[in-house]
Amino acid sequence: MKIRKAVFPAAGFGTRFLPATKAIPKEMLPLIDKPLIQYSVEEAKRSGLEEVIIVTGMGKTAIEDHFDVSFELEMLLKERNKTEILKMIEELSNFIHFSYTRQKKPLGLGHAIHCAKNLVGMEPFAVFLSDDVIDAKIPVMKQMVHTFRQYPYSILAVQRVPKKEVHHYGIIEAKKICPRIYKVIDMVEKPHPHDAPSNLAIIGRYILAPEIFNALEQIRPGKGGEIQLTDGLKMLSRTQPIYAYEFEGNRYDAGDKLGFLKANVSFALNTPGINKEFRSFLRGLNL
Ligand code: UTP
Repeated sequence: MKIRKAVFPAAGFGTRFLPATKAIPKEMLPLIDKPLIQYSVEEAKRSGLEEVIIVTGMGKTAIEDHFDVSFELEMLLKERNKTEILKMIEELSNFIHFSYTRQKKPLGLGHAIHCAKNLVGMEPFAVFLSDDVIDAKIPVMKQMVHTFRQYPYSILAVQRVPKKEVHHYGIIEAKKICPRIYKVIDMVEKPHPHDAPSNLAIIGRYILAPEIFNALEQIRPGKGGEIQLTDGLKMLSRTQPIYAYEFEGNRYDAGDKLGFLKANVSFALNTPGINKEFRSFLRGLNL
């Protein structure tokens, strides 16, 4: 079965990035010249997905405006003969099919994904958390879609993290079945390093079987009073297998100040037009 739809939960309050995220959605923070969410929408398109479903919440209308037609802006660019920029702006609104749904209260990632139930229907779908920015030769979701052809069940993107950082992540206990692919045995949300079953951390890319919606309906609020996706996945694993895929690529947690800075520096060093001057600026800092 083909993965056609991509769900983007974007209703969180982004508390780690306050006050910047008080009036601006975290997903709209710019990495060089594009908002974070645009990178993952582009990844979805490059991975062959056809439809983007964004789960928004209070104060998130800038995301809808960003991917919508801006008639006045396009007129102005036309009048000023800014053809290149006009082309880029037009492409953005025609990029892919967008739908929006709202999570009325930020009751957790699992709850946000459940809000997309009617728009997704009964087919496997992809999930992107756009604050996980991943620089990869082959888009990570494309790598996962490829894995899905062989293992047509839910697949979690995972990455090895230092043991002392496991408490920031959902961690899997798993059995390796071939290079980069694991069968998930159990999952623990934000464990203490001593209790962590491995250092394989779940990162913000998922392929989910539609039965996850049913599983999310059965669970109770977990850590922090939120409906946790990890708990939903545990429930799902009682009735069908779940796999994990160790992706190839460099990932930055751009929802966190330090991760965001690292992503900006790394992307700037690879952006034609600014990279040379930026490199010599960094050298001049005499660190
Ligand atoms: P985070 O755990 O990063 O939470 O959510 P957050 O609110 O965005 O940021 P911090 O931790 O307070 O700084 C992971 C993803 O799940 C979405 C977020 O928008 C983000 O993409 N999410 C989280 C929701 O859509 N709804 C929620 O209730 C919680």
